[in-house]
Amino acid sequence: MTIRIHQVKKEELKEYYQMQIKYLDKDDFSEFLQNVDKYKGLYLCAVDNGKIVGVVYPGTYNGEMYLRGICVDLSKKLNDKGIGSKLIKAFEKKMAQRGLERITVGSAEEPRAENFYLKNGWQPTQLVVKKIEKLPSNYKEIIKKENLSEDKDADGKTLVLRTPVTDYESGKILRERLEKELNAKECIFILEKKLKKK
Ligand SMILES: CC(C)(COP(=O)(O)OP(=O)(O)OC[C@H]1O[C@@H](n2cnc3c(N)ncnc32)[C@H](O)[C@@H]1OP(=O)(O)O)[C@@H](O)C(=O)NCCC(=O)NCCS
Repeated sequence: MTIRIHQVKKEELKEYYQMQIKYLDKDDFSEFLQNVDKYKGLYLCAVDNGKIVGVVYPGTYNGEMYLRGICVDLSKKLNDKGIGSKLIKAFEKKMAQRGLERITVGSAEEPRAENFYLKNGWQPTQLVVKKIEKLPSNYKEIIKKENLSEDKDADGKTLVLRTPVTDYESGKILRERLEKELNAKECIFILEKKLKKK
């Protein structure tokens, strides 16, 4: 297996899009094309023998670029072969070349994804509580006690709650407590990678 990483080529756009919508963001095809154009040079893919086996791409939140999506082809059992690490390293390099000092990602709430970022040197900085079904009666108390700040999700409407964390292990304990206290279906880690100047 010889993996090469490059910016998606015109003839690979459909294949790239299929991979993105299968594992990551379900954008419309036209939205996808606009983003490829907007983030020129940052829609990267891992290719083996002419086939796309993994993708990584950015997005923008509050005026800052972040890592919006990364995946490898799980259907071909291509995970755990170092392809994701190759992709994320190439992405970090491109972002550093653009002068960014740090990048963030909101990890899927899955040990596989979280361990992948940790292994690649990303640091947990925040927990974001999402999908709060029904606010508990002692909501205000919990907010204060747990040092949570209210914010809106990327859609600009849905309530999310943020709190800083210092490390993964204590973050996991806090997450379990927050999900219980707030009847939340999801609570994700935000991780960041400090980039070296290129
Ligand atoms: C997360 C993902 C991109 C990692 O890509 P990958 O090519 O498998 O990653 P690598 O082979 O470079 O690194 C594997 C590391 O991930 C972690 N990992 C992978 N599978 C794991 C599992 N089942 N449980 C715990 N950790 C796991 C480990 O830290 C592993 O390191 P190790 O090999 O030293 O044990 C890939 O699993 C994926 O596409 N997942 C589905 C989509 C997804 O969740 N994307 C992230 C969205 S935020």
